[in-house]
Amino acid sequence: MNFEEKIDKDKLPEHIAIIMDGNGRWAKKKGQPRVLGHRAGVKTVRRITEACAKIGIKYLTLYAFSTENWNRPAFEVNALMRLLVETLNKEVKVLNKNKIQLQTIGDLSALPEKSRKAMENAIRDTASNSRMRLTLALNYSGRWEITEAAKKLAQKVKMGELDPSDIDEKMVAAALTTHDMPDPELLIRTSGETRLSNYLLWQLAYSEFYFTPLFWPDFMENDLHEAIYVYQNRERRFGKTSEQLT
Ligand code: IPE
Ligand code: IPE
Ligand code: MG
Repeated sequence: MNFEEKIDKDKLPEHIAIIMDGNGRWAKKKGQPRVLGHRAGVKTVRRITEACAKIGIKYLTLYAFSTENWNRPAFEVNALMRLLVETLNKEVKVLNKNKIQLQTIGDLSALPEKSRKAMENAIRDTASNSRMRLTLALNYSGRWEITEAAKKLAQKVKMGELDPSDIDEKMVAAALTTHDMPDPELLIRTSGETRLSNYLLWQLAYSEFYFTPLFWPDFMENDLHEAIYVYQNRERRFGKTSEQLT
């Protein structure tokens, strides 16, 4: 079925978040090393980024490396970091052609110098693009982010700039790495796993979750369109009753 024509262009999510999972299993299934799965995964990043921009999504946030991923074998971590540099250096041209701005959330200070520099350069070189923002979550985790926000607010209290009783949800949201983005309406996770793995814990509080058994390298434009179609047919009640919505 072609899902693109079924999508209501007036009811698109503004922000889609994706947990790109299953690169390793995709490779294993083919009898190839995991790293080849990550290479195939990069192609899906390009494909899905362009598909999102094309239908008019404003924010796409991809989980590329979690704080827990440092626990993988050094060989794989190094390969992922190298792949990041290689990809960024190659893709900036394409991002500019498609008017896509690149951003990142996560603790970049722990990345190898080369990866951090490549990221900073790509962010700088795409800064004026305004069609869509692509955010890579790199060395990111939701708990890390909320902890950092707590530190920032505590510091303000300590300096006498903030009264603890004035802290509200808006202020917490403003202290997060995503302070200048709307919360994702839709979360997609590939590979059949049905967990958050420490992704955007605050921001996903009221998002619609969509899980697909497809491995990330096998996730095509039509699968993205299907996820959006399913999202559009969910009833988002935000605590109200169904009758109140009509
Ligand atoms: C997701 O694929 C990519 C990253 C976490 C960097 P995985 O590498 O987690 O693939 P599986 O889950 O082992 O199949
Ligand atoms: C989550 O995937 C992180 C990224 C996609 C970057 P993982 O494959 O690392 O998650 P777990 O370990 O299965 O929860
Ligand atoms: Mg995985």
